[in-house]
Amino acid sequence: MLQEVVATRYVTPLREGGSLPGIVEADDLGTYVMKFTGAGQGRKTLVAEVICGELGRRLGLRVPELVTIELDPVIGLAEPDQEVQELLKASGGLNLGMDYLPGSLGFDPLAYEVGAAEAGRVVWFDALINNVDRSWRNPNMLVWHGDLWLIDHGATMIWHHNWPGAEASAAKPYNASDHVLAPFAPDIAAAAAELAPLVTEELLTEVAADVPDAWLVDEPGFSSTDELRRAYVAPLLARAATVHERIALDAPAANRPSQAPGWLTERLPPRHRPSAGDGATAAARTGREGGR
Ligand SMILES: Nc1ncnc2c1ncn2[C@@H]1O[C@H](COP(=O)(O)OP(=O)(O)O)[C@@H](O)[C@H]1O
Ligand SMILES: [Mg+2]
Repeated sequence: MLQEVVATRYVTPLREGGSLPGIVEADDLGTYVMKFTGAGQGRKTLVAEVICGELGRRLGLRVPELVTIELDPVIGLAEPDQEVQELLKASGGLNLGMDYLPGSLGFDPLAYEVGAAEAGRVVWFDALINNVDRSWRNPNMLVWHGDLWLIDHGATMIWHHNWPGAEASAAKPYNASDHVLAPFAPDIAAAAAELAPLVTEELLTEVAADVPDAWLVDEPGFSSTDELRRAYVAPLLARAATVHERIALDAPAANRPSQAPGWLTERLPPRHRPSAGDGATAAARTGREGGR
């Protein structure tokens, strides 16, 4: 079970992503990034956040703490933005919260160096969960106190949108060419050797148990929420054993973001500082020509 808190104040919307998450304060005096059940992406996004976020954490990756947040839409009454008002009105009850990391920065591949071992663990994990949302356009990673933190696991496990095809879909390859950590020579073999044995039926059952019933009820084709929870276990278990053989990492990425400002890189601990700090660094790492 995730910790349960009650929202006490809606602070502000976050407009960087697509789902209009909001910063809220809660009765445990915590501050959270809240993802709403009433958002257009639907409740499966929240199921994916819990299963994959908790799985990642148990595999030793950094994922901010997840909680469930009880929302009384009345706390948004003073909110002037119509879109936010409607979202809050549609989201009474249980929503998802992620511990807000104050002062964190969005990951920039030109401003932050990632070792091959860590890059390998993240790419392998994203292949396991079919994450299509960790590209350089939209890294969904934060740098906080000099460390890399993974956020936003809503666009994963595509197969849970089509249960009859889930098993076949879980056997498919993962194209990591566009992955934001592709230029960091990710050591996939080492990651697979380290992490795949940890992905057991027990562990997957445990993370599926963290999903609140409210987000699982009435799924077509399933007679109970526990039956649906069990359906998440088999595809992930099967995929963990062999997915490393099906990770494609070949094609070069297209235009990269411009050089990061000095005020940003100078504040990073030396181990994470890019050595040259321009596009040539990324190209040198991959053995490709610069100037894209
Ligand atoms: N735990 C967090 N701490 C600080 N900022 C966060 C956190 N989670 C998300 N954010 C910020 O909010 C933005 C949107 O969050 P994200 O989970 O990516 O939502 P979306 O599903 O809308 O893409 C992120 O790009 C990041 O800037
Ligand atoms: Mg996002």
